[in-house]
Amino acid sequence: MGILTRSTPSKKPNESMKLIITTFLGIAFGFFIGVSFPSLSLTKLNIASNFLPSIDLADIEDKSSGLSTQKVLDDLSYRRDTSRRQNLNETAKIWVPSNPRGAEMLPPGIIAAESDFYLRRLWGKPSEDFTHTPKYLIAFTVGYDQRANIDSCVKKFSENFTIVLFHYDGRVTEWDEFEWSKRAIHISVRKQTKWWYAKRFLHPDIVAPYDYIFIWDEDLGVEHFNAEQYLKLVKKHGLEISQPGLEPNKGLTWQMTKRRGDREVHKETQEKPGWCTDPLLPPCAAFVEIMAPVFSRDAWRCVWHMIQNDLVHGWGLDFSVRKCVEPAHEKIGVVDSQWIVHQTVPSLGNQGESQNGKAPWQGVRERCRKEWTMFQTRLANAEASYYRAVGIDPSTSTGH
Ligand SMILES: *[C@@H]1O[C@H](CO)[C@@H](O)[C@H](O)[C@H]1NC(C)=O
Ligand SMILES: *[C@@H]1O[C@H](CO)[C@@H](O)[C@H](O)[C@H]1NC(C)=O
Repeated sequence: MGILTRSTPSKKPNESMKLIITTFLGIAFGFFIGVSFPSLSLTKLNIASNFLPSIDLADIEDKSSGLSTQKVLDDLSYRRDTSRRQNLNETAKIWVPSNPRGAEMLPPGIIAAESDFYLRRLWGKPSEDFTHTPKYLIAFTVGYDQRANIDSCVKKFSENFTIVLFHYDGRVTEWDEFEWSKRAIHISVRKQTKWWYAKRFLHPDIVAPYDYIFIWDEDLGVEHFNAEQYLKLVKKHGLEISQPGLEPNKGLTWQMTKRRGDREVHKETQEKPGWCTDPLLPPCAAFVEIMAPVFSRDAWRCVWHMIQNDLVHGWGLDFSVRKCVEPAHEKIGVVDSQWIVHQTVPSLGNQGESQNGKAPWQGVRERCRKEWTMFQTRLANAEASYYRAVGIDPSTSTGH
């Protein structure tokens, strides 16, 4: 204020007048504020803190130890939204806490919480875009070199299937030589694994319309496989997680997934699981059960959450998906009468990089094993801390 009132002689009268008026208005405004809020002292006028969300720093630190930074940030922005909302105190605006998180300001009737892979037209009425909507989804992780095999695979899946191709070699347009390619969804990201793609592009909310989701490798022989017949058996026997029986053309197959010639399906209840005694020995490390899995919508919603973002090879998943269905021994099974052949062709495993004089596939294999151990450790730790938190002694509970 002192600076404002100190008018200098060199100023023109017009400017001095402006300054006086400004000063007067300033004083009047100050007086008005003082009258309106008599109890408001300057030290209490801490506007900034009122507009910031109340964040407990200790709380953040506690959370960051267990959660990713992104999760903490999401949490903060959510809280900021909530507090902004409270500051506005606009009771006439929409706020529906039961809406999906982040969409509370929308009227529930407009919310489309799930999506699909259905292709639409650019013209006409949206309601008339489809002549039919596929009920199942098949996703293959492919390289162009395997096109002949994928072509014969895809032909086994009728128009009742949405076809998704994950391209790990960056070659996409070449696939247009196949008629079916035009109705397929092509997703091209170099040198990633099936489970990396599945985690990113098959979110349960995106694939929600599909009753069953097939997530298959590219080197499967499907001569003796009929997809509609397969699903008929899956439904008949109530399988939530399944795979076709496997007939290895060379090497060994896990006992559990090996095709039984004399029946439609087999489950754990009928067989003592003949899983390997040492899972790190070659026959067991053969990646089998996660080669051609088929999930029901509900089972996939659970398994998707179990897939770790950094453990891209998915080793160990096959042992743990049983946590997603209850009772597992009834709802997991192998469909023997619709069977496939594992052809063991060099594929993504050869897309590694030579390091320390080792062949590319060796580095990939080593990482697979390392990931398997990491996954098991994570799962065991997560279970232990859960049981500790709820006060159960895991040794006395059934656990698995
Ligand atoms: C919002 O305004 C109403 C009425 O003016 C008041 O009763 C209520 O406490 C306010 N809510 C918040 C969160 O400030
Ligand atoms: C596709 O699904 C419909 C309805 O379930 C069924 O009638 C039809 O036979 C299926 N198509 C094929 C090729 O199996």
